[in-house]
Amino acid sequence: ARLAPAHRPLAGRHILVTAGPTHEPIDPVRYIANRSSGRQGFAVAGALAALGARVTLIAGPVTLPTPPGVGRVDVETACQMAQAVAEALPADAAVMVAAVADWRVEAAGQKVKKDGGAAPALTLVENPDILATVAAAPNRPALVVGFAAETEHVIDHAVAKRLRKRADWIVANDVSGDVFGGDANSVHLVTAEGVESWERMGKDDVARGLAQRIADALQGEP
Ligand code: CTP
Ligand code: CA
Repeated sequence: ARLAPAHRPLAGRHILVTAGPTHEPIDPVRYIANRSSGRQGFAVAGALAALGARVTLIAGPVTLPTPPGVGRVDVETACQMAQAVAEALPADAAVMVAAVADWRVEAAGQKVKKDGGAAPALTLVENPDILATVAAAPNRPALVVGFAAETEHVIDHAVAKRLRKRADWIVANDVSGDVFGGDANSVHLVTAEGVESWERMGKDDVARGLAQRIADALQGEP
């Protein structure tokens, strides 16, 4: 049995967390972004550290302080995030909270200039799926958790995503209201056992609840 004191059940565990948006450059001065604030992911990282875990937080571009006890790696693009995640493995668990850009731009090497003609067309290329890659890796963490922000058919989409990406759990976030940048989340925890719907609560409470569940799940792991 592992010797983890009750108040630090994740002592001796390494947990990877991704958070925030990614920025995908169009040219040296422009990029495509999304509205992720990074707050839910940073809260998860902090809550895991508070339970004793060694946390590696791979963060996209956000303006947030690093939670106490968390080791942070800053990245800009999805490809950089994928690389940083691969380098941070192995881990006992991975929690992918980042709003990774689904596509990157075939970026120009120089600033794109108006030339008086047609507007430039952006060619988009699909980014690697970091969650699916980690879940299929030879050194796969014992517990792989994804987040899914959905505006409709929240649970159906999350159930399908869990299977498609081979995640153990998906935290499905109902964003039909206002959530990006907001204080609270309405989440459903989708596991192989079924779906647990949590009452609407603050992002810090979602983080604490999830961290405790992760501690419980890792209890039985060597
Ligand atoms: N994710 C990832 N890498 C990507 C895209 C998503 O790691 N390139 C992770 C997210 O961090 C999240 C989970 O996958 O944990 C679900 O992301 P989501 O955007 O909901 O899934 P997608 O497969 O991109 O589907 P959608 O078309 O709904 O955006
Ligand atoms: Ca996506």
